[in-house]
Amino acid sequence: MGIAISKFSRAKKAGFDTTSQYLYTITGTPNTYDREQENVALRHSIVREIWGSNFLSPISCELKNGGLKVLDVGCGFGIWLFEMSSEFPNCSYTGIDMSPKLFAANIPKNVKLVSADINDGLPFPDDSFDFIFIRNVGFDLLETQWVSLINECSRALKPGGYLEVTEAELRSMNCGPNLIKLSKKFHEYVASTKVNTLIVEKIEVIMRSTNKFQDIDHHTRPFLQGCWGGPLKDAYKSYSTDIFRFVLKFTDINEKDYDNTINILMDEATVHKTYFNLHKFVSKKI
Ligand SMILES: C[S@@+](CC[C@H](N)C(=O)[O-])C[C@H]1O[C@@H](n2cnc3c(N)ncnc32)[C@H](O)[C@@H]1O
Repeated sequence: MGIAISKFSRAKKAGFDTTSQYLYTITGTPNTYDREQENVALRHSIVREIWGSNFLSPISCELKNGGLKVLDVGCGFGIWLFEMSSEFPNCSYTGIDMSPKLFAANIPKNVKLVSADINDGLPFPDDSFDFIFIRNVGFDLLETQWVSLINECSRALKPGGYLEVTEAELRSMNCGPNLIKLSKKFHEYVASTKVNTLIVEKIEVIMRSTNKFQDIDHHTRPFLQGCWGGPLKDAYKSYSTDIFRFVLKFTDINEKDYDNTINILMDEATVHKTYFNLHKFVSKKI
C-alpha cells in the first residue's frame, strides 16, 4: 500500500512532486485508474495545494497524537482518506459513498468504506466522530438535502469535533465570449436539475441554523481556468481541458472539432484570467 503520485500520469505531467507522500494508489497497479479517476486525483492535488493542506480544521496535533475518528462524506474512491490515513496512521477513518463500484479492493487497515445514500441519514450513532470532512458533493445534493446532511453531521460529530466543508462555486469569473456562449446550454441543463449552483452562499447559514456549531470560519480561494498564474498553471491547464471537454458535450459542436475548440477556450481563459471560487467552511460542534 502506498504507491506514490508517479502512478498518476496526469498529476505527474502537471508538475506535482513525484516523491511526495501524497496521492496513494489503492492497489498499486497503475492501470487501475481510468481518466475520470485521474481527473479526480488531479483536482484533489490542485485543491490540496490551493489550501496548503488536506484540511484547515485546527486538529493537526490531535491527528498526530492519534485516536481520532474521521469521516469523509461522499468519499468517492477515497483519495483524501488514503492520504490522511497515511499521514496520520494512528487515527481511524471511515468513508461513505453511494457508489461502491468506486471502492478499491485493497484499502489501508485503518480505513473502512461504507456504501450508503447520505440522503437516508448518516448510518452512525450520535457523537461518533471527531472530524467530518465533506468535499465536492455540492452538485449532487438539493438544498433541502444539504440542510439534512449538515444536521446529520452535527448529530454524528462528538462535542468539540470539527465539520469541514469544501465546495466550489459553479460560476466562472472573467469569462471570455466563447466560454459564455458555449456554456449556456450546460447552465440550462444545471438549472433544470434544481441543484443550487451557489450553495456555498447558504452553507454557513445552514450550519448556524442547527444551533450546534460555534466558531464558523469561511475561507475563499480562486481555482484558475486556462493556463495562467504561478506554479500550478500546468495543473490548471490539464484540469481545464477536461472541464471544457465536458461543457462541449452540451453543445452541437462535432466531437472531431473538440480539440480545436478547447485550444480556443484555453487561450481565451488564459488571456481573460478566468477562475471560479472555492469555499471552505470550518466549524466546531459546541
Ligand atoms: C464529485 S465526487 C467527490 C469525491 C470526493 N469527495 C472528492 O473530493 O474527490 C462526489 C461523490 O459524492 C458521492 N455522492 C453523491 N451523492 C451521494 C449520496 N446521496 N450518498 C452518498 N454518496 C453520494 C458520489 O458517488 C461521488 O463519489
